[in-house]
Formats: sequence, C-alpha cells, structure tokens
Amino acid sequence: MPNSLQSEPVAAVLDRLYAQAEKIDPEVLEPAMAEARRRKGPLDDRELAGMLRRAFMPVSRDVGHLLYMMVRTSRCRRVIEFGTSFGISTIFLAAALKDSGGGTLVTTELEPDKVRRAREHFAEAGLSDIVEVREGDARETLRDVEPDVDFVLLDGWKGLYLPVLQLLEPKLRTGSLIIADDIDLMPEVLTPYLQYVHRERSPYFAVKVPMGDGLDVAMWTR
Ligand SMILES: C[S@@+](CC[C@H](N)C(=O)[O-])C[C@H]1O[C@@H](n2cnc3c(N)ncnc32)[C@H](O)[C@@H]1O
Repeated sequence: MPNSLQSEPVAAVLDRLYAQAEKIDPEVLEPAMAEARRRKGPLDDRELAGMLRRAFMPVSRDVGHLLYMMVRTSRCRRVIEFGTSFGISTIFLAAALKDSGGGTLVTTELEPDKVRRAREHFAEAGLSDIVEVREGDARETLRDVEPDVDFVLLDGWKGLYLPVLQLLEPKLRTGSLIIADDIDLMPEVLTPYLQYVHRERSPYFAVKVPMGDGLDVAMWTR
C-alpha cells in the first residue's frame, strides 16, 4: 500500500517546511500579535494576513496524519481547504487523494506571496495536478466550487469558519466531513461555529477531538 508521506518527494518537502515553520513562527507570531494588541479596534482580515505573511501556523504532524487517514479511508474525491498558508496541510490532504486513486483539492489563501510559495511546494511534492490554489478571500473564491464536496478543512481566520461553512453547505455530499482546526485557540471567536454544528437536531453530527490545538469533526448528514 503506497504512502506518499513516507516516501520522496513528499517526505522531504514536509520535513523542510516543518523545520522552517519551527524557526520562523516564533520570530513572527509574537511581535505581530503584540502589534495587533497595541492597535485600537479590530484588524481586518487582510491586514492580519499581511502581518502574518511569513508565519506558517501549520497543522501539527499528528493532525496532518489524521487528515491523511480520514481522506484516504473515506475515499474522498473532492476536498476543499480554507487557509493554505505555505501548503503543509494541503500536502497531507493531496497526498491522501493521490494515494487513494486521485481527486481534486481546492484551497484558498489571502496572501499573494503565500499562494506563490505554496504552488512551488505542491510542484516539488509532485501534487500540482491535484491542487488548485485560489488567491483571495475564501468568501469569494469558494463561491463557485463544484458540488459533491466530501471533505472540508477549515483553517483560516477563526471568525470566518461559520460563514465559509454556510457558503459550502449547498455543495456538501451526504456524509461529508468538516474539520475545524484550532478550536481551543480562540474559544470566544469560535463559539458561534461550535454552537452551529453541535446544536440539537442540526444536520451535523459533531465531536470535539483533543488533538493539537483542538479539532472539531462534523459530519453533514442531510
Ligand atoms: C493557520 S494558517 C493555515 C495553515 C495551513 N492550513 C497549514 O496547516 O499549513 C491560516 C491562513 O489563512 C489565511 N486566511 C485568513 N483569512 C482568509 C480568508 N478570508 N481567505 C483566504 N485565506 C485566509 C491566512 O492568510 C493564513 O495564511
């Protein structure tokens, strides 16, 4: 059974990107957050993306491995990702599609330099034919995705998880999975999303998974 995560070129690209993230993220995140705190009034999404344009903020390796297994085991064919950054999570998802016979992955990112670099990483990993990167705001770029989406990863700015999910709802296939990353990082911002997918008699069946900075796994049952 092939596993691209354990062979080249994917393994080497992931090792290199995680090493870069470990070095760069601590240098970038703290000053950017301090600057954000100094400002009066909320930052808009693009401004924050610009301040964090060098930060990877990737899913943990364990979360990446779980994403790979979920996509591969469910034999997903159409995957959507909100929040590409430099493409680490995308590589896990696209490798799973490749190893289970192919598919398409649409991912979206606000910051143009990240889009350019992510495309280079997908080419190096041999995954360009699976991944389409859409530059811009997910609320626009994901408007016209094809129906029968069977897997969604939400990993952009946390306040947008709910509107992005609602935008995608008409395109979800019955039984599709929606994974929200980092749910323990900003609980107050994520409350509307979590209430929405966990409410009684909703079309979602959802469970919180204590991994990384907290995952929420929801299944669309309608
Ligand atoms: C946590 S990082 C994503 C990490 C990535 N999933 C990984 O594991 O490598 C969040 C990314 O979402 C992007 N982003 C934030 N708001 C966005 C929006 N409205 N549309 C598209 N991308 C957005 C940010 O620029 C940032 O690069």
